[in-house]
Amino acid sequence: MPGFGETVFVGGHELVDQLCDETRFCKVVSGPLAALVAKDPARGLFTAPAEADPDWQQAHRILIPAFGPLAIEEMFEEMMDIASQLVLKWARLGQNTKLAVVEDMTRVTLDTIALCAMDYRFNSFYSDTPHPFVTAMTDTLALSSKASQISGMLKFLLPSTHKKLKADEELQMKTAADVVQYRRDHPTEKNDLLNAMIYGKDPKTGATMRDDLIAANMVTFLIAGHETTSGLLSFTIALLLLNPRAYFAARKEVDSVVGSKRLAPEHLKELKYIEQCLREALRLYPTAPAFSRGVRPDRKDDGPVIITDRQGRHFEVPRGASWRCVITKSQRDPAVWGADCNEFVPERMADELFAALPRNAWKPFGTGMRACIGRAFAWQEALIVLALILQNFDLQLDDPEYRVRVQQTLTIKPKGLFVRARLREGVS
Ligand code: HEM
Repeated sequence: MPGFGETVFVGGHELVDQLCDETRFCKVVSGPLAALVAKDPARGLFTAPAEADPDWQQAHRILIPAFGPLAIEEMFEEMMDIASQLVLKWARLGQNTKLAVVEDMTRVTLDTIALCAMDYRFNSFYSDTPHPFVTAMTDTLALSSKASQISGMLKFLLPSTHKKLKADEELQMKTAADVVQYRRDHPTEKNDLLNAMIYGKDPKTGATMRDDLIAANMVTFLIAGHETTSGLLSFTIALLLLNPRAYFAARKEVDSVVGSKRLAPEHLKELKYIEQCLREALRLYPTAPAFSRGVRPDRKDDGPVIITDRQGRHFEVPRGASWRCVITKSQRDPAVWGADCNEFVPERMADELFAALPRNAWKPFGTGMRACIGRAFAWQEALIVLALILQNFDLQLDDPEYRVRVQQTLTIKPKGLFVRARLREGVS
């Protein structure tokens, strides 16, 4: 049985590259993800066990267009709405307040995904106590992460953990089911993910999605769609502040592309340097730090499946085993990235260099059929938030001696990151 102390961790780029070969390998749900898998028959895209799963296939086919470039561009105003709430908060608090970056980035990303996906406002910027759904969700993430670190059957012997996980999962599914029911009872014309799931027809079968599957995917989007993007924004802010040359280059770009105008969708593709900063931040600190691969169960060839490292050593990947691609390592492999692999160098991510990277060298959004469906969503959101922050504030680290320390749950985030924000001259 995979996952019971048999996970192999792989960090060299050449091995990760081979494990990304979709003809031999595919995603395996193991580690923290396995702990997230509910007993419930309906699973969201993220935790669906296999590509062969009919529910995964249906949801994938219906949702791909809903996450396409045009659909994401239509979400621009809602993303601006939430990002502007962050700007307003920081402006009101003024430069004498120590701002907890990760917490505020989480407010932005959670409120954004909820608004864009299902027209729901958590209003995290207007309340000190999180919505019960949010508490249940963050507790589930923390407990799943902890449970995955406890070996083998031991976690099932911890009834309190198990009970709490179950209660939290039920609360999330119930809240999501209520949102689906409410939308069915109060239809809107809105072009959001919820309507895409309720009314969208599978192009292959013509069928629509079951309500329990829609609810499971709503929960998936809220979970998958907020922690990772919040971490991306937080690490990028930390890295920019630790690298003043990059910070001023990014700010200069915003000044020349946007100036004092209101940020508009057409500005985003011109924010090339900020895009490079985001790519480089995700290389150094991929906020989903690993993904698991295993031999394709439907593989016809039943001979041994071998991968080979740079020294020419061969490793057989046993069927049913889970090999974890640790991209926090492979994305810093000096053989690919050079002697400065641990440095923040956004210039190496310029479009022409990025396009010429060795295959599977930059993999923060996963790989193959099960790669991240929300990549364009996260990208647009991150560009908007960073552009607004740089346009409006002079930022500085609260602690000038601050160095990035990583805090890991299911995702990674920078620990203890506090900044001060002063409104820039001429900004009202
Ligand atoms: C899958 C990373 C943002 C929804 C994945 C995977 C990675 C990833 C690595 C593959 C996991 C695996 O192979 O086990 C990220 C990062 C993000 C981000 C780094 C932000 C910087 C988002 C957003 C959404 C989202 C904003 C939703 C709005 C999903 C879903 C899957 C997924 C549904 C599962 C896809 C499938 O299996 O069909 N993501 N993600 N992600 N992500 Fe993201």
